[in-house]
Amino acid sequence: MNINIFENSSLGSQFVANRIGKVLAARNLVSKPTVLGLATGSTPIEVYDELIKKYRNEGLSFKNVVTFNLDEYYPMEPSDVQSYYYFMHQNLFNAIDIQPSNVFIPNGEIHEHKIIKYCEQYDDKIAEVGGIDIQILGIGANGHIGFNEPGSERKSATRFVTLDEQTRKDASYTFNGIENVPESAITMGIDTILKAKEILILAWGKRKAEIIKQCLFGEVTSTKPATFLQAHPNVNVVLDVEAASLLDLD
Ligand code: PGA
Repeated sequence: MNINIFENSSLGSQFVANRIGKVLAARNLVSKPTVLGLATGSTPIEVYDELIKKYRNEGLSFKNVVTFNLDEYYPMEPSDVQSYYYFMHQNLFNAIDIQPSNVFIPNGEIHEHKIIKYCEQYDDKIAEVGGIDIQILGIGANGHIGFNEPGSERKSATRFVTLDEQTRKDASYTFNGIENVPESAITMGIDTILKAKEILILAWGKRKAEIIKQCLFGEVTSTKPATFLQAHPNVNVVLDVEAASLLDLD
């Protein structure tokens, strides 16, 4: 894994947006689609701000972009301000020229009897468009990627999951109390994520330092799902100095 350390999250986010912008511009030149795997949470917000700037100031078009989001709470209505559907539209999609038909976010309203089939179709759709070119990831304090909580298997596909207590605690401030945080979600699987051609995993701040150290150098184990990234051939880890503060890089 390549480790990139920046003085602050703004510089790290610019690095990530520049990488996406470069791939996208090259694909646009030859009219080829770019497939992006996208994340929610506080970590990627500045990346999305930078991408919006590139659209507005540099004429970077997202017309040929297809996106797949990592996860969505279940049950969850898209219009709910806590939905990841709402988050993505507020923080990125409403401000760029992406085609709504090219946006894929797990459906938090799908009937429970249809979830298994729906999840299979989500993975099939990714394969159908040629796979994910660049996957953006944050990391949970418990080592989750997407909502692949501790215990998630290396070969897991997109599926219905029960949220970890730690994850629900971390989300409680946006939901105004843990009792309002959904207990379940739909998430891309570890295997789905690892099929991406390139992965950019981002972490900012001291509270991510310990898990980043374990993720990069700890034993590969399903109890820390982010450790599975160690086996991927093309991962860029993008950190600010605080998130990198426990790494021994000599
Ligand atoms: P955060 O969440 O970006 O809000 O820190 C990351 C995650 O849980 O994946």
